[in-house]
Amino acid sequence: MFYPNFVWSLLAITPFLQVVDAGIARNLEGKLVRVMTPLGVTQVRHRSARAMSENALVREGVRLTSGFWDYFWDPDYQHFRTTRKGSETVGEWNGYTLWPYIIGVEALLEAEVARPGQFANEITAAFAGVEKFFSVEYNAYTAWVYFPGNSDIYYDDNAQVVIALLRASEIPTVSNAKYLSRAKKVTDFLLTGWDATNGGMKWHVEMATRNACSTSLTAVAVLKLARMGQRTSGKTRNELIAFARTAVQWILNELQLDSGLIVDGVGGGPTYTYNTGITLHALCLLQEVSPSPDLAAKAQRLVEAALNRSKSLFDTTVANTEYRYWWDFTFFLHLLFEGLTEYTRVFGASNQATVAKIRTELTRHTAYMQKYIKDDNDGLYVLRRSA
Ligand SMILES: *[C@@H]1O[C@H](CO)[C@@H](O)[C@H](O)[C@H]1NC(C)=O
Repeated sequence: MFYPNFVWSLLAITPFLQVVDAGIARNLEGKLVRVMTPLGVTQVRHRSARAMSENALVREGVRLTSGFWDYFWDPDYQHFRTTRKGSETVGEWNGYTLWPYIIGVEALLEAEVARPGQFANEITAAFAGVEKFFSVEYNAYTAWVYFPGNSDIYYDDNAQVVIALLRASEIPTVSNAKYLSRAKKVTDFLLTGWDATNGGMKWHVEMATRNACSTSLTAVAVLKLARMGQRTSGKTRNELIAFARTAVQWILNELQLDSGLIVDGVGGGPTYTYNTGITLHALCLLQEVSPSPDLAAKAQRLVEAALNRSKSLFDTTVANTEYRYWWDFTFFLHLLFEGLTEYTRVFGASNQATVAKIRTELTRHTAYMQKYIKDDNDGLYVLRRSA
């Protein structure tokens, strides 16, 4: 209820529902075959079970998008805001900072894909509102609304904005030429964050810290632009692809632990789920845009580490591995969901056993979240389950 993050956990998977739902349907089929075979109507029942489960996830995502819009969007402020101060809100009126704001926009975009036209006005309003963050000085977005002298600018936030602008450019009901031109401009800003001496993307314009999220999200943004056949004014399409390849390899060289998981940054930190998830996403896009024989094994290693309930993406404080779930819940988990669904899309055909394991985890987690972290009073999802 405090943080509109989970919307995307559900919605990120809607474009891939045929993939995920094939797994759900298969589980149902297993049960239904036993029950229904004597009646001779297995096929019919199986088909309707599949249709039901697909619609249920999409329906929940669309319902939740309407719900969070009504709850968090304030038309007077042209901003997502909430009633209580939180770690991601600023100011007297508790407006959300750029990262959660843009995650909200991404949720709207996925809902729009599921129900064309239904969220077009909201998307227009939300993109207009994000202009409050824009700095003409940097050609980038500040973490909180821009004012002269504001240089509180994160590269990972800006990569998320580029990704959202490009997603909008691909959706016919909301596409607008200004989204693509802005995305290109901000991409040129992103590339100024590369540490030419040590490698890796800086996290913030005024800090030397180099992180997994800034590097992997920039790779994703750049590869999405390249996938659209685009370039920027500073870089050709081939230069963008070469940059992304170097960035992803830097993460694997410098931030991949013996466990196979990606750590938060140079110098350590937690293994947030998105560190591994976005890196996986970038590897998948790289394979799509510019395939090479090394990428499948690199992606496979990340997937196996992410799915292993003995490793630290899972809450290892839970003794019984059967009851372990990914540990950071709605904060970052949607980005792991996305990496895993992208793996399924790009590498799935020749890795059916891995895809089956991915389906199992996504299905388990989606069910868990709907059961335990959804607030039945208002239908919104909380950040995590409290004891
Ligand atoms: C999961 O990780 C543990 C500990 O690192 C390892 O012993 C085990 O073989 C892994 N399981 C799979 C299925 O990869």
